[in-house]
Amino acid sequence: MCGIFAYHGPKKNAPEMVIEGLKRLEYRGYDSWGVAYKKGGEIHVHKEVGKIGDFDSKNLNFGSSNISLGEVEDQYEISMGHSRWATHGKVTEENAHPHFTEDKNIVIVHNGIFANYLEVKKELEAKGSKFESDTDTEVIAHLINDYCKKHSFEEAVDKTCKRIEGRYAILVMKKDRSCIIAARKGSPLIIGVGKEENEFFIASDIPAFLPYTNQVNYLDDNQLVQIDKTGIKFFDMETNKEIEKRTIEIDWTIEEAEKGDFAHFMIKEITEQKSTLTRAINQDTNIIEEVAEAIKNAENTYFVGCGTAGKVGMVGEYLFANIAKKHVNFCFGSEFSNYKHFLNDKTLMVCISQSGETADTLEAIEIAKERGVTIVAIVNVETSTMARISDMVIPIKAGPEKAVASTKATTSQLAILTLLAYACDGGINKGKQLLINTAAQINDMLNPRYEEYILKIAEKIMHVESMYIIGRGSNYPIALEAAIKLQELSYIHAEGFAGGELKHGPLALISEGTPVISLVPNDENTKEMISNTIEIKSRGGYIIGISPENHEVFDYWISVPDTHESSPIVNIIPIQILAYQLAVLRKNDPDKPRNLAKSVTVK
Ligand code: M6R
Repeated sequence: MCGIFAYHGPKKNAPEMVIEGLKRLEYRGYDSWGVAYKKGGEIHVHKEVGKIGDFDSKNLNFGSSNISLGEVEDQYEISMGHSRWATHGKVTEENAHPHFTEDKNIVIVHNGIFANYLEVKKELEAKGSKFESDTDTEVIAHLINDYCKKHSFEEAVDKTCKRIEGRYAILVMKKDRSCIIAARKGSPLIIGVGKEENEFFIASDIPAFLPYTNQVNYLDDNQLVQIDKTGIKFFDMETNKEIEKRTIEIDWTIEEAEKGDFAHFMIKEITEQKSTLTRAINQDTNIIEEVAEAIKNAENTYFVGCGTAGKVGMVGEYLFANIAKKHVNFCFGSEFSNYKHFLNDKTLMVCISQSGETADTLEAIEIAKERGVTIVAIVNVETSTMARISDMVIPIKAGPEKAVASTKATTSQLAILTLLAYACDGGINKGKQLLINTAAQINDMLNPRYEEYILKIAEKIMHVESMYIIGRGSNYPIALEAAIKLQELSYIHAEGFAGGELKHGPLALISEGTPVISLVPNDENTKEMISNTIEIKSRGGYIIGISPENHEVFDYWISVPDTHESSPIVNIIPIQILAYQLAVLRKNDPDKPRNLAKSVTVK
């Protein structure tokens, strides 16, 4: 949520690099963007409302200062930028980051929420501060400036951080200092170590600087970093001591993080499911066995996630019931605090997340840790906060997922949970074989003919007002996930239901031609699913069946392979394709749905 990118180094086109970095981070927020550049003893800012998209850095305009890029002035250049997902204040240029103080002394970019900003704002207003925006961020800039009256810049940032209640990542520059200071608590910040002397990048996510380096330092919570011509220094804000950081090499490639020949990241990532599933399955089985053992021994296990990852957790509840005959609880991250009275050192929490940075899930972990719960993370970003604070980590190995709508991470997470359920039942090899077969069948299924076939149904339903998805058992959460995919991509009202629940109310929503997607795998629920589908058809519903069989009740059949217990994995893929095609047909941006961001780092 919000993308941050900064450059310190000898290259003489720092603002251009920042613009390109922000473009690679735009999936984190795209309401507005802005860049700050230190040059000629001043800091200059350019901001705009809307997506940074195809902005050409030649059009950068730093106003009356009329500075020209590329002129060598200082030994090192410093620039930082931000792409915003609005929290406090509307989407306007005034509310876009970076934010200055009135005297242009301090400039800041920020990701997160300053929960107590109103109280601090009043305090500063009483001392004479004037604010131009409605943001909490501008208050941070003013607070730093206020502390600078009596303290050094470094101390002022440190003191300010200690007053911020909430999660944040900030980058700060000061007019008379050729340095950049960054600090974090709860929101991600990663340092890229460049190839040149004293060359560093700071970003919310690795893909932003992957073209330049794959060497990184992770900033942990309550840590501060200062970069200047002498190099980089890390500090622990709790002990106020300088600390050492290990440089880690990342195995993501720039090709994985780029669109290549695909029109959008989303379709690239859907297609990558030909191989990502295999990567998820073919990893060290020791960690799977270890986590399965922990689930077996725990008094209580909670699967926790948000959004799509939450729906995956819900599928897990069914997989464990059916395969391992073991009860596990599912809970959304944002609802987890309601269970706090049942947590103790015999509880296990299995967190599912693509980014490993989702604030609601991180907060659930904090609640659990306070009560001695053991934490397992099933994550894609192996170096994320969630991975680093968990006791055990199962990486899903899906590679960078940049489209806001989760696709390949979802199926890889489903594969890991299926494997865990089999391992818990003592049959990890059986699970592995099932998933290897599923991956092979997905490889055959994902081809241009399949996409064209789904396009026909997308064209037929592209103007409807509402659509519904039904499923039973482990495919009930898939119906809920299908609804998320269709909502975020098509902006059409979509809702998922348990097949048996329609007759208790939602059937009243069905009228002539209402599209209903019915998930009908070959399993113990097939007969009931067909009955529920007939009930809908009798009320005029237009039935799109996703099934290995072409049942008579279907008006349009989308064929999927018969993969038994792993039917949730194959059933969601045609819906991902349908949702993508609806977005394209309705001229929505499939990679950046309105009002959303990839990584939700606010509560
Ligand atoms: O990074 P996470 O998996 O923790 O993200 C959780 C949700 O925000 C995410 O799954 C969201 O629902 C997706 N954009 C849906 O496609």
